Amino acid sequence: MREISITGGEPLTRKKTALSNKILRELNDLKRKYDNERFSLLPALYLFQREYGWLSAEALEKVGEILGVPKTTVKSVSTFYAMFRHKPMGRHLIQLCTNVSCMIMGCERLTDILKTRYGLGPNATTHDGRFSFLVMECIGVCDIAPAMVVDTDLYGNLTEDSLIGILERYE
Ligand code: FES
Repeated sequence: MREISITGGEPLTRKKTALSNKILRELNDLKRKYDNERFSLLPALYLFQREYGWLSAEALEKVGEILGVPKTTVKSVSTFYAMFRHKPMGRHLIQLCTNVSCMIMGCERLTDILKTRYGLGPNATTHDGRFSFLVMECIGVCDIAPAMVVDTDLYGNLTEDSLIGILERYE
């Protein structure tokens, strides 16, 4: 299996200028794991998003280049799945459910807090780049509504106070 040797290039994001050794190692592991490059496309996109926070056009190109998958395939797969983001995000992503159970249990109070305390509306990022906020459909934990995910952490039974307390943990 061909090893990946890309070590430089144009900036992938505002902050990062090259693929880290960690992501190169993980991509090589993915290539070893799957016989067909296309099978490793979704996990590779996930790796890039985890590392850089979103999938820039350049990141998509790198993924295609590394896996040997056509650009059009990379783009169509990455835009098909709602979990992939195509614009820069804050350091932490708040995904708050506003579907029926969460609405009944008071998620509107939580969106109000995000607005008044952090100046954060849906699909927006705070000025300091600390948080981005996305409204979600049911995230599958209606029994602990209202609920949200911050980065990869799930929280339920939220109140105004617990929301503020939780977000204070994320710098
Ligand atoms: S409606 Fe919010 S978790 Fe199901």
